[in-house]
Amino acid sequence: MRGGGLTVGLLKGGVSSATGFDLSPKMVEAASALASESGFSSTASFSVGDGATSALPTSDLVILDSVLCCYPDVSELVDNSSSAARRVYAISLPDSRRRLTKILRPFLFFQPAFLRGKKFRFFVPSADKIISQLKAKGFTKVYDSAAGFTWSVLLFAAPRKQPG
Ligand SMILES: C[S@@+](CC[C@H](N)C(=O)[O-])C[C@H]1O[C@@H](n2cnc3c(N)ncnc32)[C@H](O)[C@@H]1O
Repeated sequence: MRGGGLTVGLLKGGVSSATGFDLSPKMVEAASALASESGFSSTASFSVGDGATSALPTSDLVILDSVLCCYPDVSELVDNSSSAARRVYAISLPDSRRRLTKILRPFLFFQPAFLRGKKFRFFVPSADKIISQLKAKGFTKVYDSAAGFTWSVLLFAAPRKQPG
């Protein structure tokens, strides 16, 4: 999917506004261009930022679409980004619980040999650890896809804040 594609799809579907962050200025540029072409330049904004460390705006829905595969400190990224979710926290990731992913996971160790000189690294984070981390923060898992050989989509309901 083109950068910003999911955001624009959600805006077309009725989401009132969206804020996106990415470490890559190119991804931010592509997403901003798509939003503008699609008539959403006033309701969508994209910035360069680190989801693991930046102060993120509190939002009803926080989505990390194919992001947990591309950052070394998943725990920090999940902690910071989930803290911004008021209602739903959604992630898609290569799922360490799937048989094929379990077979492929050890080969990631050899990435430096193949990706010499490139910053990019692919990770298969532990889905079970992420689920436990979120449960410990009061999130409830409400959807766990079983589709695909390697990837999963998981949705979590955010803990209800006490009034006052
Ligand atoms: C595989 S791409 C997916 C891009 C987009 N989400 C999509 O589905 O088309 C992974 C993206 O995650 C971004 N990324 C990785 N770690 C990040 C972090 N800590 N904060 C913000 N963006 C991050 C990378 O810069 C990269 O653009």
